[in-house]
Amino acid sequence: MAEATLKKPEFSTPQSCFTKTYVDQKFLETSILRRYDLFREDPEYSEKIRLIRDEHKEYLHKSARGLSEGYQELDASQPWFCYWILNSLDLLGVLDDTSSFVYKENLFEKTIYTIARCQGELGGFGGGPLQDSHLAPTYAAVNALAIVQKYHKGALDIIDSKKMFSFLLSLKQPDGSFAMHIGGERDLRGLYCALSVAYLLNIQTEELIKDSELFVKSCQTYEGGLASVPFAEAHGGYTFCGVAALGLLGKMEVIDVDSLFQWLVNRQMKFSGGFQGRTNKLVDGCYSWWQGGAFPLVVDYIQKRDGISLQNNNNGDWAFHQFALQQFILSCCQQPDGGLRDKPEKNRDLYHTSYCLSGLSRSQYNTFSKTTTVLGIKENLLKEIDHIHCIPVDKVEVAKLHFQNSKLEENKN
Ligand code: FPP
Ligand code: ZN
Repeated sequence: MAEATLKKPEFSTPQSCFTKTYVDQKFLETSILRRYDLFREDPEYSEKIRLIRDEHKEYLHKSARGLSEGYQELDASQPWFCYWILNSLDLLGVLDDTSSFVYKENLFEKTIYTIARCQGELGGFGGGPLQDSHLAPTYAAVNALAIVQKYHKGALDIIDSKKMFSFLLSLKQPDGSFAMHIGGERDLRGLYCALSVAYLLNIQTEELIKDSELFVKSCQTYEGGLASVPFAEAHGGYTFCGVAALGLLGKMEVIDVDSLFQWLVNRQMKFSGGFQGRTNKLVDGCYSWWQGGAFPLVVDYIQKRDGISLQNNNNGDWAFHQFALQQFILSCCQQPDGGLRDKPEKNRDLYHTSYCLSGLSRSQYNTFSKTTTVLGIKENLLKEIDHIHCIPVDKVEVAKLHFQNSKLEENKN
Protein backbone atom coordinates (compact mmCIF):
# COMPACT_ATOMS: atom_id res chain seq x y z
CA MET A 1 0.00 0.00 0.00
CA ALA A 2 1.44 3.43 -0.89
CA GLU A 3 1.92 5.93 1.89
CA ALA A 4 -0.60 8.77 2.21
CA THR A 5 0.74 12.21 1.35
CA LEU A 6 -1.95 14.70 2.16
CA LYS A 7 -2.32 18.01 0.47
CA LYS A 8 -2.23 21.31 2.27
CA PRO A 9 -5.50 23.16 1.63
CA GLU A 10 -5.10 26.33 -0.37
CA PHE A 11 -7.97 28.82 -0.42
CA SER A 12 -9.18 29.65 -3.90
CA THR A 13 -7.90 32.89 -5.39
CA PRO A 14 -9.79 36.00 -4.21
CA GLN A 15 -11.97 37.67 -6.80
CA SER A 16 -13.19 41.21 -7.19
CA CYS A 17 -16.59 40.13 -8.53
CA PHE A 18 -18.76 38.54 -5.83
CA THR A 19 -20.97 36.19 -7.80
CA LYS A 20 -23.30 33.72 -6.03
CA THR A 21 -20.96 30.85 -6.93
CA TYR A 22 -18.01 32.79 -5.46
CA VAL A 23 -19.85 33.37 -2.17
CA ASP A 24 -21.02 29.73 -2.06
CA GLN A 25 -17.45 28.59 -2.72
CA LYS A 26 -16.08 30.67 0.18
CA PHE A 27 -18.79 29.41 2.52
CA LEU A 28 -18.07 25.82 1.47
CA GLU A 29 -14.32 26.23 1.92
CA THR A 30 -14.85 27.40 5.50
CA SER A 31 -16.96 24.36 6.24
CA ILE A 32 -14.44 22.02 4.59
CA LEU A 33 -11.54 23.66 6.44
CA ARG A 34 -13.17 22.79 9.79
CA ARG A 35 -13.05 19.14 8.77
CA TYR A 36 -9.52 19.32 7.35
CA ASP A 37 -8.27 20.97 10.59
CA LEU A 38 -8.57 17.52 12.17
CA PHE A 39 -5.69 16.37 9.95
CA ARG A 40 -3.53 19.24 11.16
CA GLU A 41 -4.45 18.91 14.82
CA ASP A 42 -3.70 15.20 14.89
CA PRO A 43 -0.78 14.12 12.67
CA GLU A 44 -2.06 10.54 12.81
CA TYR A 45 -5.57 11.40 11.68
CA SER A 46 -4.81 10.40 8.08
CA GLU A 47 -4.17 6.86 9.33
CA LYS A 48 -7.26 6.83 11.53
CA ILE A 49 -9.96 8.27 9.30
CA ARG A 50 -12.72 5.71 8.68
CA LEU A 51 -15.26 4.78 6.11
CA ILE A 52 -18.29 4.26 8.35
CA ARG A 53 -19.28 0.95 6.80
CA ASP A 54 -21.90 -0.11 9.35
CA GLU A 55 -23.78 3.16 9.06
CA HIS A 56 -23.73 3.03 5.24
CA LYS A 57 -24.91 -0.57 5.32
CA GLU A 58 -27.75 0.40 7.65
CA TYR A 59 -28.81 3.26 5.36
CA LEU A 60 -28.78 0.94 2.35
CA HIS A 61 -30.68 -1.73 4.27
CA LYS A 62 -33.35 0.81 5.21
CA SER A 63 -33.56 2.02 1.59
CA ALA A 64 -33.86 -1.53 0.25
CA ARG A 65 -36.85 -2.10 2.53
CA GLY A 66 -38.68 0.93 1.19
CA LEU A 67 -38.01 4.50 0.22
CA SER A 68 -39.30 7.62 1.95
CA GLU A 69 -42.04 9.85 0.50
CA GLY A 70 -39.38 12.17 -0.89
CA TYR A 71 -38.59 9.59 -3.54
CA GLN A 72 -42.17 9.49 -4.89
CA GLU A 73 -41.39 11.80 -7.79
CA LEU A 74 -38.66 9.36 -8.84
CA ASP A 75 -41.18 6.62 -9.59
CA ALA A 76 -39.69 6.37 -13.11
CA SER A 77 -36.27 5.46 -11.68
CA GLN A 78 -36.96 2.09 -10.09
CA PRO A 79 -34.11 0.19 -11.83
CA TRP A 80 -31.76 3.00 -10.83
CA PHE A 81 -32.55 2.50 -7.14
CA CYS A 82 -31.93 -1.24 -7.50
CA TYR A 83 -28.59 -0.53 -9.19
CA TRP A 84 -27.40 2.19 -6.77
CA ILE A 85 -28.30 0.10 -3.71
CA LEU A 86 -26.73 -3.11 -5.06
CA ASN A 87 -23.61 -1.42 -6.39
CA SER A 88 -23.05 0.31 -3.03
CA LEU A 89 -23.66 -2.87 -1.04
CA ASP A 90 -21.38 -4.82 -3.35
CA LEU A 91 -18.52 -2.30 -3.14
CA LEU A 92 -18.85 -2.48 0.65
CA GLY A 93 -18.57 -6.29 0.48
CA VAL A 94 -22.07 -6.86 1.89
CA LEU A 95 -23.25 -9.05 -1.00
CA ASP A 96 -20.41 -11.50 -0.37
CA ASP A 97 -21.46 -11.91 3.26
CA THR A 98 -24.05 -14.70 3.36
CA SER A 99 -25.03 -13.78 6.93
CA SER A 100 -26.11 -10.28 5.85
CA PHE A 101 -29.70 -9.00 5.57
CA VAL A 102 -29.43 -9.39 1.79
CA TYR A 103 -29.86 -13.16 2.14
CA LYS A 104 -32.33 -13.09 5.06
CA GLU A 105 -34.59 -10.67 3.22
CA ASN A 106 -34.25 -12.19 -0.29
CA LEU A 107 -32.91 -9.00 -1.82
CA PHE A 108 -31.78 -10.76 -5.00
CA GLU A 109 -35.18 -12.32 -5.68
CA LYS A 110 -36.91 -9.00 -4.95
CA THR A 111 -34.58 -7.19 -7.35
CA ILE A 112 -35.25 -9.66 -10.15
CA TYR A 113 -39.01 -9.39 -9.57
CA THR A 114 -38.94 -5.56 -9.57
CA ILE A 115 -36.80 -5.29 -12.67
CA ALA A 116 -38.60 -8.00 -14.64
CA ARG A 117 -41.81 -5.97 -14.30
CA CYS A 118 -40.08 -3.01 -15.97
CA GLN A 119 -39.12 -4.88 -19.17
CA GLY A 120 -40.97 -3.51 -22.20
CA GLU A 121 -42.93 -5.53 -24.77
CA LEU A 122 -40.57 -4.29 -27.47
CA GLY A 123 -37.40 -4.76 -25.43
CA GLY A 124 -35.43 -2.59 -23.04
CA PHE A 125 -36.59 -1.48 -19.62
CA GLY A 126 -38.76 1.37 -18.42
CA GLY A 127 -38.49 3.24 -15.13
CA GLY A 128 -41.38 1.23 -13.66
CA PRO A 129 -44.03 -1.32 -14.67
CA LEU A 130 -45.90 -0.37 -17.88
CA GLN A 131 -43.66 2.65 -18.46
CA ASP A 132 -42.07 3.19 -21.88
CA SER A 133 -38.63 1.67 -22.35
CA HIS A 134 -35.85 4.22 -21.96
CA LEU A 135 -32.08 3.88 -22.23
CA ALA A 136 -31.28 5.19 -18.74
CA PRO A 137 -33.33 2.64 -16.74
CA THR A 138 -32.29 -0.01 -19.30
CA TYR A 139 -28.64 0.62 -18.42
CA ALA A 140 -29.42 0.59 -14.70
CA ALA A 141 -31.51 -2.60 -14.97
CA VAL A 142 -28.77 -4.47 -16.83
CA ASN A 143 -26.13 -3.34 -14.31
CA ALA A 144 -28.31 -4.38 -11.37
CA LEU A 145 -28.98 -7.81 -12.90
CA ALA A 146 -25.29 -8.27 -13.72
CA ILE A 147 -24.49 -7.68 -10.05
CA VAL A 148 -27.16 -10.17 -8.94
CA GLN A 149 -26.14 -12.87 -11.45
CA LYS A 150 -23.08 -13.97 -9.48
CA TYR A 151 -25.23 -14.79 -6.45
CA HIS A 152 -28.48 -15.80 -8.12
CA LYS A 153 -27.97 -17.64 -11.40
CA GLY A 154 -30.74 -16.80 -13.79
CA ALA A 155 -30.88 -13.08 -13.04
CA LEU A 156 -29.53 -12.19 -16.49
CA ASP A 157 -31.82 -14.74 -18.16
CA ILE A 158 -34.79 -12.43 -17.66
CA ILE A 159 -33.31 -10.11 -20.31
CA ASP A 160 -34.70 -10.73 -23.77
CA SER A 161 -31.47 -10.08 -25.71
CA LYS A 162 -33.09 -10.23 -29.16
CA LYS A 163 -35.69 -7.64 -28.23
CA MET A 164 -33.00 -5.63 -26.49
CA PHE A 165 -31.04 -5.51 -29.74
CA SER A 166 -34.09 -4.30 -31.71
CA PHE A 167 -34.82 -1.72 -29.02
CA LEU A 168 -31.27 -0.35 -29.16
CA LEU A 169 -31.26 -0.34 -32.96
CA SER A 170 -34.60 1.48 -33.06
CA LEU A 171 -32.96 4.35 -31.15
CA LYS A 172 -29.88 4.58 -33.35
CA GLN A 173 -29.55 7.89 -35.26
CA PRO A 174 -27.76 8.64 -38.55
CA ASP A 175 -25.16 10.82 -36.76
CA GLY A 176 -24.05 7.84 -34.62
CA SER A 177 -25.92 8.95 -31.48
CA PHE A 178 -28.85 7.25 -29.72
CA ALA A 179 -32.17 8.74 -28.67
CA MET A 180 -32.94 8.11 -24.98
CA HIS A 181 -36.33 6.70 -25.99
CA ILE A 182 -38.52 6.71 -29.07
CA GLY A 183 -38.76 10.37 -30.09
CA GLY A 184 -36.52 11.36 -27.18
CA GLU A 185 -33.44 13.54 -26.79
CA ARG A 186 -30.08 12.42 -28.19
CA ASP A 187 -26.97 12.99 -26.14
CA LEU A 188 -23.87 11.28 -24.80
CA ARG A 189 -25.83 9.58 -22.01
CA GLY A 190 -27.86 7.66 -24.57
CA LEU A 191 -24.77 6.64 -26.48
CA TYR A 192 -22.99 5.38 -23.36
CA CYS A 193 -26.06 3.56 -21.98
CA ALA A 194 -26.71 1.83 -25.31
CA LEU A 195 -23.08 0.77 -25.82
CA SER A 196 -22.56 -0.31 -22.21
CA VAL A 197 -25.58 -2.61 -22.48
CA ALA A 198 -24.69 -3.86 -25.97
CA TYR A 199 -21.12 -4.80 -25.02
CA LEU A 200 -22.17 -6.49 -21.80
CA LEU A 201 -24.83 -8.50 -23.65
CA ASN A 202 -22.46 -9.22 -26.55
CA ILE A 203 -24.85 -7.76 -29.14
CA GLN A 204 -22.63 -4.94 -30.45
CA THR A 205 -22.92 -5.28 -34.23
CA GLU A 206 -21.26 -3.01 -36.82
CA GLU A 207 -24.67 -1.58 -37.62
CA LEU A 208 -25.31 -0.70 -33.98
CA ILE A 209 -22.00 1.03 -33.31
CA LYS A 210 -21.59 2.70 -36.71
CA ASP A 211 -20.29 6.32 -36.47
CA SER A 212 -20.78 6.46 -32.72
CA GLU A 213 -17.23 7.71 -32.23
CA LEU A 214 -18.01 10.62 -34.57
CA PHE A 215 -20.85 11.75 -32.34
CA VAL A 216 -18.53 11.64 -29.30
CA LYS A 217 -15.97 13.67 -31.24
CA SER A 218 -18.59 16.27 -32.13
CA CYS A 219 -19.29 16.81 -28.40
CA GLN A 220 -15.72 17.83 -27.47
CA THR A 221 -15.61 21.52 -26.62
CA TYR A 222 -12.93 24.21 -26.83
CA GLU A 223 -12.16 23.47 -23.15
CA GLY A 224 -11.24 19.86 -23.88
CA GLY A 225 -14.03 18.16 -21.90
CA LEU A 226 -17.13 16.67 -23.50
CA ALA A 227 -20.62 18.18 -23.55
CA SER A 228 -24.02 16.50 -23.74
CA VAL A 229 -24.45 17.52 -27.41
CA PRO A 230 -22.35 19.53 -29.90
CA PHE A 231 -21.79 23.19 -28.85
CA ALA A 232 -22.96 22.73 -25.25
CA GLU A 233 -20.77 23.08 -22.13
CA ALA A 234 -18.12 20.52 -21.15
CA HIS A 235 -19.40 18.57 -18.12
CA GLY A 236 -18.06 15.66 -16.06
CA GLY A 237 -21.16 13.47 -16.40
CA TYR A 238 -21.12 13.60 -20.17
CA THR A 239 -17.34 13.41 -20.31
CA PHE A 240 -17.40 10.08 -18.52
CA CYS A 241 -20.11 8.83 -20.90
CA GLY A 242 -18.10 9.82 -23.99
CA VAL A 243 -14.79 8.49 -22.69
CA ALA A 244 -16.30 5.15 -21.62
CA ALA A 245 -18.03 4.85 -25.01
CA LEU A 246 -14.72 5.45 -26.82
CA GLY A 247 -13.11 2.90 -24.50
CA LEU A 248 -15.69 0.31 -25.59
CA LEU A 249 -15.23 1.22 -29.24
CA GLY A 250 -11.41 1.26 -28.92
CA LYS A 251 -11.40 4.65 -30.66
CA MET A 252 -9.99 7.09 -28.14
CA GLU A 253 -7.80 8.61 -30.85
CA VAL A 254 -10.74 10.38 -32.56
CA ILE A 255 -10.80 13.09 -29.90
CA ASP A 256 -8.09 15.49 -28.78
CA VAL A 257 -7.03 13.39 -25.79
CA ASP A 258 -4.41 15.90 -24.63
CA SER A 259 -6.87 18.74 -24.25
CA LEU A 260 -9.32 16.35 -22.59
CA PHE A 261 -6.59 15.31 -20.13
CA GLN A 262 -5.75 18.94 -19.43
CA TRP A 263 -9.42 19.70 -18.74
CA LEU A 264 -9.84 16.62 -16.52
CA VAL A 265 -6.82 17.26 -14.28
CA ASN A 266 -7.97 20.83 -13.76
CA ARG A 267 -11.38 19.71 -12.47
CA GLN A 268 -9.83 18.39 -9.25
CA MET A 269 -10.21 21.32 -6.91
CA LYS A 270 -7.17 22.78 -5.19
CA PHE A 271 -8.82 23.43 -1.88
CA SER A 272 -11.05 20.43 -1.29
CA GLY A 273 -9.37 17.70 -3.35
CA GLY A 274 -12.78 16.70 -4.74
CA PHE A 275 -13.86 17.20 -8.36
CA GLN A 276 -16.14 19.86 -9.80
CA GLY A 277 -18.37 18.98 -12.77
CA ARG A 278 -17.50 22.01 -14.88
CA THR A 279 -15.38 25.13 -14.82
CA ASN A 280 -16.19 27.60 -12.04
CA LYS A 281 -18.69 25.35 -10.30
CA LEU A 282 -18.66 23.82 -6.84
CA VAL A 283 -17.14 20.51 -5.81
CA ASP A 284 -19.58 17.57 -5.64
CA GLY A 285 -18.95 14.00 -4.41
CA CYS A 286 -20.63 12.34 -7.40
CA TYR A 287 -17.92 13.71 -9.73
CA SER A 288 -15.47 11.53 -7.83
CA TRP A 289 -16.84 8.95 -10.26
CA TRP A 290 -17.81 10.95 -13.33
CA GLN A 291 -14.46 12.77 -13.47
CA GLY A 292 -12.24 10.37 -11.48
CA GLY A 293 -13.66 7.41 -13.40
CA ALA A 294 -12.59 8.87 -16.76
CA PHE A 295 -8.87 8.84 -15.87
CA PRO A 296 -7.97 5.15 -16.40
CA LEU A 297 -8.92 5.11 -20.09
CA VAL A 298 -7.33 8.48 -20.80
CA VAL A 299 -4.12 7.71 -18.88
CA ASP A 300 -3.87 4.26 -20.47
CA TYR A 301 -4.25 5.77 -23.94
CA ILE A 302 -1.63 8.50 -23.40
CA GLN A 303 0.86 6.12 -21.81
CA LYS A 304 0.63 3.67 -24.70
CA ARG A 305 0.65 6.37 -27.37
CA ASP A 306 3.68 8.21 -25.98
CA GLY A 307 5.49 5.27 -24.38
CA ILE A 308 5.63 7.11 -21.06
CA SER A 309 4.43 6.52 -17.53
CA LEU A 310 2.17 9.05 -15.84
CA GLN A 311 2.40 7.12 -12.61
CA ASN A 312 3.20 9.01 -9.44
CA ASN A 313 4.91 6.56 -7.10
CA ASN A 314 3.47 7.95 -3.94
CA ASN A 315 0.03 8.59 -5.21
CA GLY A 316 -1.11 5.87 -7.58
CA ASP A 317 -1.69 5.45 -11.29
CA TRP A 318 -4.32 7.97 -12.22
CA ALA A 319 -2.65 11.37 -12.58
CA PHE A 320 -5.01 13.00 -10.10
CA HIS A 321 -4.38 13.29 -6.37
CA GLN A 322 -5.94 10.04 -5.20
CA PHE A 323 -5.37 10.66 -1.48
CA ALA A 324 -6.82 14.16 -1.71
CA LEU A 325 -9.97 12.79 -3.33
CA GLN A 326 -10.30 10.19 -0.57
CA GLN A 327 -9.77 12.91 2.02
CA PHE A 328 -12.70 14.85 0.51
CA ILE A 329 -15.00 11.82 0.28
CA LEU A 330 -14.25 10.52 3.78
CA SER A 331 -14.22 13.92 5.53
CA CYS A 332 -16.97 15.77 3.67
CA CYS A 333 -19.29 13.32 1.92
CA GLN A 334 -20.10 10.79 4.64
CA GLN A 335 -23.29 11.59 6.53
CA PRO A 336 -22.63 10.61 10.17
CA ASP A 337 -25.70 8.35 10.32
CA GLY A 338 -24.85 6.64 7.01
CA GLY A 339 -25.13 7.34 3.31
CA LEU A 340 -22.99 9.68 1.24
CA ARG A 341 -23.74 13.13 -0.12
CA ASP A 342 -22.78 15.83 -2.59
CA LYS A 343 -21.03 18.06 -0.02
CA PRO A 344 -21.21 18.84 3.73
CA GLU A 345 -24.38 20.96 3.78
CA LYS A 346 -26.39 18.50 1.66
CA ASN A 347 -28.35 15.40 2.59
CA ARG A 348 -27.41 11.86 1.64
CA ASP A 349 -29.14 10.11 -1.25
CA LEU A 350 -28.72 6.82 -3.11
CA TYR A 351 -27.24 8.41 -6.24
CA HIS A 352 -24.46 10.13 -4.28
CA THR A 353 -23.91 7.06 -2.11
CA SER A 354 -23.27 4.89 -5.17
CA TYR A 355 -21.10 7.40 -7.07
CA CYS A 356 -19.08 8.55 -4.03
CA LEU A 357 -18.28 4.91 -3.24
CA SER A 358 -17.49 4.17 -6.89
CA GLY A 359 -15.11 7.16 -6.98
CA LEU A 360 -13.58 6.08 -3.69
CA SER A 361 -12.92 2.63 -5.13
CA ARG A 362 -11.46 4.19 -8.29
CA SER A 363 -9.00 6.21 -6.21
CA GLN A 364 -8.00 3.20 -4.10
CA TYR A 365 -7.09 0.77 -6.91
CA ASN A 366 -4.16 1.19 -9.29
CA THR A 367 -4.85 -1.22 -12.09
CA PHE A 368 -1.51 -0.88 -13.89
CA SER A 369 0.84 -1.08 -10.93
CA LYS A 370 -1.48 -3.53 -9.15
CA THR A 371 -1.21 -1.56 -5.92
CA THR A 372 -3.70 0.14 -3.64
CA THR A 373 -3.66 3.66 -2.26
CA VAL A 374 -5.86 3.72 0.84
CA LEU A 375 -6.32 6.73 3.07
CA GLY A 376 -7.17 5.91 6.70
CA ILE A 377 -7.55 2.47 8.22
CA LYS A 378 -6.86 -0.46 5.89
CA GLU A 379 -10.48 -1.64 6.26
CA ASN A 380 -11.49 1.40 4.18
CA LEU A 381 -10.55 -0.57 1.06
CA LEU A 382 -13.65 -1.28 -1.03
CA LYS A 383 -14.09 -3.83 -3.80
CA GLU A 384 -12.66 -2.78 -7.16
CA ILE A 385 -14.92 -0.91 -9.57
CA ASP A 386 -14.89 -1.51 -13.35
CA HIS A 387 -13.76 1.57 -15.29
CA ILE A 388 -16.47 1.33 -17.95
CA HIS A 389 -19.64 -0.20 -16.56
CA CYS A 390 -19.41 1.19 -13.00
CA ILE A 391 -20.09 -2.11 -11.26
CA PRO A 392 -17.51 -4.22 -9.39
CA VAL A 393 -15.03 -5.88 -11.76
CA ASP A 394 -16.01 -9.45 -10.82
CA LYS A 395 -19.57 -8.74 -12.01
CA VAL A 396 -18.44 -7.61 -15.46
CA GLU A 397 -16.53 -10.86 -15.87
CA VAL A 398 -19.55 -12.94 -14.84
CA ALA A 399 -21.92 -11.06 -17.16
CA LYS A 400 -19.61 -11.22 -20.18
CA LEU A 401 -19.04 -14.92 -19.71
CA HIS A 402 -22.77 -15.50 -19.35
CA PHE A 403 -23.58 -13.83 -22.67
CA GLN A 404 -20.62 -15.39 -24.48
CA ASN A 405 -21.88 -18.80 -23.40
CA SER A 406 -25.46 -18.07 -24.40
CA LYS A 407 -24.25 -16.98 -27.86
CA LEU A 408 -22.30 -20.24 -28.21
CA GLU A 409 -25.41 -22.21 -27.24
CA GLU A 410 -27.48 -20.21 -29.73
CA ASN A 411 -24.98 -20.90 -32.54
CA LYS A 412 -25.05 -24.62 -31.75
CA ASN A 413 -28.84 -24.79 -32.06
C1 FPP B 1 -25.82 18.26 -12.25
O1 FPP B 1 -25.72 19.32 -13.09
C2 FPP B 1 -25.84 17.02 -13.04
C3 FPP B 1 -25.43 15.91 -12.48
C4 FPP B 1 -24.92 15.94 -11.09
C5 FPP B 1 -25.49 14.63 -13.24
C6 FPP B 1 -24.38 14.47 -14.18
C7 FPP B 1 -24.27 13.13 -14.71
C8 FPP B 1 -24.48 12.78 -15.98
C9 FPP B 1 -24.92 13.73 -17.02
C10 FPP B 1 -24.19 11.38 -16.39
C11 FPP B 1 -25.42 10.61 -16.63
C12 FPP B 1 -25.05 9.23 -16.90
C13 FPP B 1 -25.88 8.22 -17.16
C14 FPP B 1 -25.31 6.88 -17.30
C15 FPP B 1 -27.34 8.39 -17.33
P1 FPP B 1 -25.77 20.72 -12.36
O2 FPP B 1 -25.77 21.80 -13.36
O3 FPP B 1 -26.91 20.74 -11.38
O4 FPP B 1 -24.49 20.64 -11.45
P2 FPP B 1 -23.09 21.36 -11.55
O5 FPP B 1 -23.28 22.67 -10.92
O6 FPP B 1 -22.19 20.47 -10.73
O7 FPP B 1 -22.69 21.42 -12.97
ZN1 ZN C 1 -23.73 15.31 -7.35
